[in-house]
Amino acid sequence: MKEYKDLNPMERVLLGPGPSMASPRVIRTMATPPVGHLDPALLKIYAEEQELLRYVFNTQNEWTFALSGTGTSAMEAAMANLVEPGDAVLVAVIGYFGTRLAEIAARLGAEVDTVERPLGEILSVEEISAALKAKSYKVFGIVHAETSTGAEQLQIGEIAKAAHEQGALVVLDTVTSLGSIPVLVDEWDIDITYSASQKSLSAPSGLAPITVSERAREVIAKRTKTVSSFYLDLQSYANYWMQHGYHHTASASLHYAFREALRITYEEGLGTRYARHRKNADLLWEGLTALDAPPLIPAAYRLPPLTTAVVPDGVAPHELRAKLLNDYNIEIAGGFGALKDKVWRIGLMGYSSRRENVTLLLAALKELL
Ligand SMILES: Cc1ncc(COP(=O)(O)O)c(C=O)c1O
Repeated sequence: MKEYKDLNPMERVLLGPGPSMASPRVIRTMATPPVGHLDPALLKIYAEEQELLRYVFNTQNEWTFALSGTGTSAMEAAMANLVEPGDAVLVAVIGYFGTRLAEIAARLGAEVDTVERPLGEILSVEEISAALKAKSYKVFGIVHAETSTGAEQLQIGEIAKAAHEQGALVVLDTVTSLGSIPVLVDEWDIDITYSASQKSLSAPSGLAPITVSERAREVIAKRTKTVSSFYLDLQSYANYWMQHGYHHTASASLHYAFREALRITYEEGLGTRYARHRKNADLLWEGLTALDAPPLIPAAYRLPPLTTAVVPDGVAPHELRAKLLNDYNIEIAGGFGALKDKVWRIGLMGYSSRRENVTLLLAALKELL
């Protein structure tokens, strides 16, 4: 008989673009025995998660909850609930995840246009305003923290204002940014904002927080066709979370973990948490520059949770990455698309954003370079 050994995976220092490391508190909590998906104890956890999510999103939106799926499920949900076939959608593209958002809208039958900048750059309010005037767009999608390049799209509030002036609803991707840099949903007046559990919030992957404005809810209520996805229907989700009608069997274990990760975020306080991410990123940027692998993105819009470091001349990027993993147990990632062999992507998100991790990575890079 074939022998299947005990599961004994390597403990890694996760400094890639996600997942980040989960705090031991989160791991311990996840071992709590699961209860039924409508058990009163779990319903209380949902209610607390909603409060904590409103805190991290900086919103009062009633429809604030977590989808059973990864960040991509929330990308699909945002578009699937707002878009009907034939609707015009504009997507801002400064990297791979903007392209993915545009593809999702196109697969739903939308007529999709993009407004783009080359990798490593961000868009201006003027460029986006001009693109929004081209036709009557129903939805405008934009990524706050572009994980493929390490750029933060600035001026989200001004951009959302320009979109609303043209009558478009705004969908904002905060998969990498939520929990590490300010995400001000109400102040910026965003219609659907989503994220993922495994990045700057530092829980295991599998849940996708999402928050929906009153304006978006009205548009959803007035749809002519029902949402094509049963699973990602936000009205059904709202009924499940708030009226407790069965929709699907959510994972109690993931919710235990996510609530604990949110509780840690709340205890730390958002201001302190943003400052910690910035401080550790500063240390990383300084060290990388000294190693001749400086950050690609200019400081003005460089993301603390995700740095793209330029691979020094003569260094084989993927071999070094393999050595970091095999010899030092440290995970970082390679570049995407046109940046594939040019950069490494280094994440300092949530529980991974600690001084000792930065010191360890810089020491390992120093030995390998
Ligand atoms: C900006 C952004 N959006 C969306 C996603 C998709 O999330 P997931 O991989 O959890 O489906 C990612 C994942 O890296 C991301 O970085």
